[in-house]
Amino acid sequence: MKLSTKHLLGIKDLTKADIQLILSTASQFKEVLQRPVKKVPSLRDVTIVNLFYENSTRTRMSFELAERRLSADVLNFTASSSSAAKGETLLDTVNNILSMKVDLVVMRHSASGAPHFLAKHIPAAIVNAGDGINEHPTQALLDAFSMQEKTGRIEGLKVAIIGDIMHSRVALSNMYLLKKMGAEITVVGPPTLIPKYLEEALGVRVTYNVQEALQWCDVANVLRIQLERQNQPLFSSLREYNLAYGIKQKMLDKLGKEIVIMHPGPINRGVELDSDVANGPHSIILNQVENGVAVRMAALYLLAGRAD
Ligand code: CP
Repeated sequence: MKLSTKHLLGIKDLTKADIQLILSTASQFKEVLQRPVKKVPSLRDVTIVNLFYENSTRTRMSFELAERRLSADVLNFTASSSSAAKGETLLDTVNNILSMKVDLVVMRHSASGAPHFLAKHIPAAIVNAGDGINEHPTQALLDAFSMQEKTGRIEGLKVAIIGDIMHSRVALSNMYLLKKMGAEITVVGPPTLIPKYLEEALGVRVTYNVQEALQWCDVANVLRIQLERQNQPLFSSLREYNLAYGIKQKMLDKLGKEIVIMHPGPINRGVELDSDVANGPHSIILNQVENGVAVRMAALYLLAGRAD
């Protein structure tokens, strides 16, 4: 089976069958990653560049590990230590890298739409590793994989997405994916951090009451407050955000049921999520990170060889 798309620019472009194919392929790679020898020759002779114009810990390391586990040749590019810092354009940079016979580009960029622009101008396949406030497709895929692994299903699952919805590419990719896969979604946060018309545009429920959303959901995906993307104050202070919207153990104790706690990282501990919840028995945050490698192996494996 093949993906319906040459690039992985966003979940918006994927079909339900594409998502199912990536998740089932990831299950096979997760099994490989449990073995003493974790490497397979699937992408031998394929060269991949990781082009990071924005900071990353998890995504970058996870892609690099996924590529090495698949036996690909790997190049790493960091904008701040490259000739981009001397003013070289994105297109010039990428065309120079491609002239060294690179097959696949993984890119993170602070500008929404940067990988889509690149896809129109270069022959290589592109994987979006997060573009501005638009999408972070592999995060949504690893989140879905982790939810399915923990609860046994995605269809019919009640997922609360909590926090800075406005600036979160993770939120948008999760909403697209969960809708396509038949989950129910409630988004929660301060009114200033939830885009208007979200209910109409994406068919998700919006509430401003965190306790009510926690009572409703099976899974709470808690998002980072993205201060670096807010050029004006959208809530009074981090302390007040924590008081009103931060997830605390005492809120979970009131539920009378267990819910799964997720966070894409990096966590602002004591802001959107208290440490005892992040480290608690219902948190699958580190499982998400572990699953990211298998999911990215699956995405790269399925995309390799589709370039012109
Ligand atoms: N979840 C995520 O994208 O983390 P990084 O910014 O560390 O890659």
